[in-house]
Amino acid sequence: TDPALIRNFCIIAHIDHGKSTLADRMLQLTGVVEQRQMRAQYLDRMDIERERGITIKSQAVRLPWARTDEENGQTHILNMIDTPGHVDFTYEVSRSLAACEGCILLVDAAQGIEAQTLANLYLAMEHDLQIIPVLNKIDLPAAQPEKFAAELANLVGCEPEDVLKVSAKTGVGVDELLDKVVRDVPAPVGVKDAPARAMIFDSVYDAYRGVVTYVKVVDGTLNKRERIRMMSTGAAHELLEIGTNSPEMKAADGLSVGEVGYLITGVKDVRQSKVGDTITQLNKGATEALGGYKDPKPMVFSGLYPLDGSDYPELREALDKLQLNDAALVYEPETSAALGFGFRVGFLGLLHLEVIRERLEREFGLELIATAPNVIYGVTMEDGTEHEVTNPSEFPTGKIAEVQEPVVRATILTPSEFIGAVMELCQNRRGNLLGMDYLSEDRVEIRYTLPLAEVVFDFFDQLKSKTRGYASLDYEPTGEQVADLVKVDILLHGDQVDAFSAICHKDKAYAYGVRLVSKLRELIPRQAFEVPVQAAIGSRVIARETIRAIRKDVLAKCYGGDISRKRKLLEKQKEGKKRMKMVGSVEVPQEAFIAVLSSD
Ligand code: GTP
Repeated sequence: TDPALIRNFCIIAHIDHGKSTLADRMLQLTGVVEQRQMRAQYLDRMDIERERGITIKSQAVRLPWARTDEENGQTHILNMIDTPGHVDFTYEVSRSLAACEGCILLVDAAQGIEAQTLANLYLAMEHDLQIIPVLNKIDLPAAQPEKFAAELANLVGCEPEDVLKVSAKTGVGVDELLDKVVRDVPAPVGVKDAPARAMIFDSVYDAYRGVVTYVKVVDGTLNKRERIRMMSTGAAHELLEIGTNSPEMKAADGLSVGEVGYLITGVKDVRQSKVGDTITQLNKGATEALGGYKDPKPMVFSGLYPLDGSDYPELREALDKLQLNDAALVYEPETSAALGFGFRVGFLGLLHLEVIRERLEREFGLELIATAPNVIYGVTMEDGTEHEVTNPSEFPTGKIAEVQEPVVRATILTPSEFIGAVMELCQNRRGNLLGMDYLSEDRVEIRYTLPLAEVVFDFFDQLKSKTRGYASLDYEPTGEQVADLVKVDILLHGDQVDAFSAICHKDKAYAYGVRLVSKLRELIPRQAFEVPVQAAIGSRVIARETIRAIRKDVLAKCYGGDISRKRKLLEKQKEGKKRMKMVGSVEVPQEAFIAVLSSD
């Protein structure tokens, strides 16, 4: 295809603002999917995505379109590139954007712009994309198109009249939007006769075909059967198949300047075909890779343990399988005195963690215990040695010079009535105010730097509850800071329970210790002897409770108060006799671990 006829674009939208519906409508209007084949949300392939309403993996679809506002217009090729919508996948979003020349900024006309949209809009601006602001859902009675058109216009620097108003649901305005994409989005530019350079913006494992890699060809041409080279690793492969999606895969002889499509080399693991990498020919290929490649870096770690220890091999197998399709997922075996054999697993962020955990439970039928998520700490000792800590129980003892923790730059959008509540929350989480801007008279963008550790610890839930669900959040890593951090250990009868060790800011260590100790006292049944439950920093005890010894004959009396609840607990414990874990000499019901670890 002549690059002058190609338009590469993506849609940026907040969750639920209608991206999938608009994409579906475009598939239908351009005739690539017939009405009767149409099923809701064609592009979201995974069940879990559909259920949770999030888009994790991006794809590209080729849409032929002749302008309706021009007579005998030429047919253009619109490549719609789907971007993942969540904060954890910022890098993947940035690669999808890098494959485009323009983007549709889609905003719900009843909701207005949200933090995530804003963060992605800034990314799009950094990539110099042509931005087409669009209000969706104008069919809704609650829509306020005038108000939000002004807000959008203000944000992208255009006139309110230039904001298109559509309904993805009814189809109103979508023709016009496709015309505008052809008119406003610049055609891709590249060097036709140069060695090929193609950027990978997505890479998906398929059980039948192996890894399917999505690319945009920037320079030159990639041909079928050619030998290619991955520029980050130098690995060579043969191009078994190359083609486009419309939306089913359609093989072609090759792809050239500006074209977007897929390729298959027979590799079995997405880590061999990494997002952001540049592909060139093996012989006489390009010498300089396209910019922007980064190795995915896990930010959040958690220990995953099978509830039933004998499921350990299944857990390993399941993780191996998930990793085929997820270059950012890393894990290594670890053992916990309290929880047995499991894995320390690294994730891009909290959502990534949740998705993986849910898939392990749902698709692989595993029951898991997950330790509280933690970030990576850099510890420098007084003798100059350095440690990277991904598991709190491995925090070094001895003379520590300083501890570094990762920080993020957070963008929060909120109705102005909640400014006070949001700032209080951020302040409590050791935040540093960077700035604040009014998007319109009643909506504010607040920017903070925050320690990532404070964000992964129920920050989002708190933010939502303090703003009645109205605030939205986005964040990106911005480096590290030195902080006054300590390790708090929990001891049962003098033995450390590794699964409960946590790294806290010094000012919060006491509260953490008290909370855990009193929870454990409630959850652990009486034993034949008295059991002290303690929280300690190093050898200094900061909180203590005691579980009294059992007196056999007066069991019932001991449990006074809410008898039925305690009895239920007792019964449960009986059921789960095999689910008792020995921590030193103390029997701890597995439920206690789950309860303490899950209710942050
Ligand atoms: P994610 O995939 O979760 O990011 O969401 P999305 O942005 O793709 O939103 P989706 O297309 O799933 O739409 C969210 C909800 O809004 C669905 O219930 C749609 O039916 C509805 N919706 C989308 N567009 C319109 C519209 O133009 N009008 C009305 N009334 N509802 C719409």
